[in-house]
Amino acid sequence: MDTHDTALTTHDAEQDARNRDIRIYVNGDIVHRNEAKVSVYDSGFMLGDGIWEGLRLYNGKWAFFDEHMDRFFNSCKTISLDVGMTKPEVLDALCRTAAANGMTHDVHCRLMLSRGVKDKPFQHPSLSRSGPTMVIIMEHSKPVETLAREGIRLATVPQVRGLPMSQDPKLNSHSKLNCIIACLQAEAAGADEALMLDPNGFVNTTNACNFFIVRRGEVWTSTGDYCMNGVTRQKVIDLCRENNIPILEKNFSLFEAYGADEAFLTGTFGAQTPVASIDGKQIGDKSRPITERIRHLYKLLVQRETT
Ligand SMILES: Cc1ncc(COP(=O)(O)O)c(C=O)c1O
Repeated sequence: MDTHDTALTTHDAEQDARNRDIRIYVNGDIVHRNEAKVSVYDSGFMLGDGIWEGLRLYNGKWAFFDEHMDRFFNSCKTISLDVGMTKPEVLDALCRTAAANGMTHDVHCRLMLSRGVKDKPFQHPSLSRSGPTMVIIMEHSKPVETLAREGIRLATVPQVRGLPMSQDPKLNSHSKLNCIIACLQAEAAGADEALMLDPNGFVNTTNACNFFIVRRGEVWTSTGDYCMNGVTRQKVIDLCRENNIPILEKNFSLFEAYGADEAFLTGTFGAQTPVASIDGKQIGDKSRPITERIRHLYKLLVQRETT
C-alpha cells in the first residue's frame, strides 16, 4: 500500500540557496564549488578507488567524530591508502572548511579520499603516484519533514550485499555500484529505496542505510556480517541497551520484516527514518511508538555530544 506519490530518498534535504555558493576543500585549498576540481586521471573518478565518510556538524561540533575517524582510518588501512594526515589534522581540515563557509549547525559533510592522480589510465594502484586526493564538501542540510512523517517505501531487490571476501560491505568505498544497482532495481519496482538481502537470503540492509524492525516490543537488526558498520546503527543498539529496550542482532527473513509492527532505517544524514512499506505491504499501523522513542533518545544523545 503506497503512502506517497512522489519518490523520496533517505537523503532528501530541504532546499537551501546558500549551498549554491559553498566553498570546497581540495587538497588543502578551499575554493568556490565552481572552481573545485579533480583530475580526470584521479583514481576516485577513474576506478572508484577511494574511501569516504559522511559526518554532521551541530553547534560547531562534529557528532561522533572519533567513531567516524576510526572507520575512515580502518577503511583506508584495509585498502592500503595512506591518509597522509593524522586524525587531528583531518579535524583541522574539516574545521577550516566549516569556518570558510561560516557553517556551525545542521551541516552535512562528505569527506573523500582517493588514491590520487594516476600516471596512466589503468587499474594498477601503483600508477597513482601523486599522493592521495582529499576533498571535503559541506552543505547546509536538514532532512525534509516528509521523511519522518510519511516514511520510506522499500522494495526487496535481486542485488545482494556480498561476502566480505568479494568487496567487504564495511568499506565505504567511492565505488557504490553494488548499492546503486540495488537502488535502480527498487526504483524500477516503484519504491524509494532498496531492501537488500544477504547471500543466505536474510534481510540485511538498504542500499544507503542500516535496517531495523520492531516486533512485539523487541528491536531487531541484522547480524552486521554483511552491512556497513554504521555509526548510527551502533548508537541505536547502545541506546536500546542503556534504556532497557530489548535489542537483538540476528538473522531474520522477509516473513518477520513484512509482519513487523514498525521498521526504520539508520544513517548519519537522516538519523532514524521510518519505513512505510516493504514490497507494497504497509508496515504496522503507522503509530511507530518505539521508533519515535529511539528518535527522541538519539536526538538527546546528539545534543549531549555536541553542546
Ligand atoms: C551502505 C550504507 N549503509 C549504512 C550507512 C550508514 O552509516 P552511518 O550511520 O555511519 O552514516 C551508510 C553510510 O555511509 C552506507 O553507505
